[in-house]
Amino acid sequence: MEPQKVIISRQLEQSLTDAIAEIPHDGLFVLCDDITRDKCLPIIAKYRCMWPAKCITIRATDTHKSLESLAHVWSELQRLGATRHSLMVNLGGGMVTDLGGFAASTFKRGIPYINIPTTLLSLVDASVGGKTGINFGGLKNEVGVFNNATAVILDTTFLRTLDRENILSGYAEMLKHGLITATDSILATAGHGSTRNNNVAADNVIATAEHGSTRNNNHRVLPCSSMAEKKLHVSPRPAVAEEIPMLGRLLAFDIEHPDLMELGRMVADSVAVKQRIVTEDPTEQGIRKALNLGHTAGHAFESLALERHPVLHGYAVAYGLVVELYLSCVKMGFPQDTMRQTVTFIKEYYGRMAVTCDDYPRLLELMHHDKKNVGDTINFTLLGDVGDIRINQTATEDEIKDALDFYREF
Ligand SMILES: NC(=O)c1ccc[n+]([C@@H]2O[C@H](COP(=O)([O-])OP(=O)(O)OC[C@H]3O[C@@H](n4cnc5c(N)ncnc54)[C@H](O)[C@@H]3O)[C@@H](O)[C@H]2O)c1
Repeated sequence: MEPQKVIISRQLEQSLTDAIAEIPHDGLFVLCDDITRDKCLPIIAKYRCMWPAKCITIRATDTHKSLESLAHVWSELQRLGATRHSLMVNLGGGMVTDLGGFAASTFKRGIPYINIPTTLLSLVDASVGGKTGINFGGLKNEVGVFNNATAVILDTTFLRTLDRENILSGYAEMLKHGLITATDSILATAGHGSTRNNNVAADNVIATAEHGSTRNNNHRVLPCSSMAEKKLHVSPRPAVAEEIPMLGRLLAFDIEHPDLMELGRMVADSVAVKQRIVTEDPTEQGIRKALNLGHTAGHAFESLALERHPVLHGYAVAYGLVVELYLSCVKMGFPQDTMRQTVTFIKEYYGRMAVTCDDYPRLLELMHHDKKNVGDTINFTLLGDVGDIRINQTATEDEIKDALDFYREF
């Protein structure tokens, strides 16, 4: 794959002007959904570099990450005179960057594209790493290609109009990034606003934060698992008030009243975690599986929710993190304090999707169907500690039921 330039924008107009100037092209197209066309396009449409751009619009939300929308984009590119030397700018959340990246990668066998993510989830996750695609045949991301955007421009300006739920949805992926790295911010000393790779050596530090240090035990549920009595018989590890790495800062951040400057710094750190991993393993043969933490159980929750009341991707990931951190504690010796602080944060902000014992067979079935599995086993990415990543782990159905009991109780 061609390398990807991730630009932490200090001055959006300059970043975009430079990125466009670096890519030779004979026509410029900007893809939006009908919400980002109204809320985000006006911010960049006034820039001189965007004056020549022709706008293509698709309908918002994941139900429109479809073959029909893709065909619409191809048709519009054709109608508006795009050639194989044209350039596309995807302006939107993960739906737009995924679909737009796929449209650009396939139109006339591929034209270059720039991503400008406008949701927190797409800033820290979807816009970076070259996974593009659409949903098909009722399955998410069923058809697509790996192909990097030439440039990704990250700017938190767009988050001003994003609702709380979508902020929280993206924040769950930031929590995941905080869990898979023990690296502290390099921006704390370097200042906000540089293009960089985060390759600071990781050292294991237990995250501690005042916030969420106690567990609410008022509400107990009856366990469904036959292993229930084994619950939390994991090696105890005392809380240690040490330096606060990325996870600690995430757990202490006031997400209800986000300071966009501080959030911007955390976004830069978070995306650096993803970028470092996808650069090392672009096509998910090994360490990229670290990014699947929370996603085996998370996808099962997301699919179950689709059958009832859909939840945003990041909410499902947050619930998946609860299950998989529990498994990490039981099977890998992940520190209980850190797990409890993280799940308390999740409980406070994300609530809990209602699940009963009767849902366990369906959740297990969904986990068995996960794309990441090989053969009959359910594959997880777990942690031995913050930043101590254990890919290709399996768990028995009893262990997973036990973790689901914990999820219902936390
Ligand atoms: N490629 C990857 O590596 C990767 C990783 C994670 C998720 N994804 C994909 O990302 C998609 C989810 O992305 P998402 O959560 O950004 O959802 P989304 O793109 O559907 O955006 C959510 C909603 O927010 C609106 N919106 C976007 N920017 C806004 C802004 N600045 N102000 C107000 N409203 C705004 C959108 O119009 C939409 O209604 C899914 O399709 C998922 O599969 C891809």
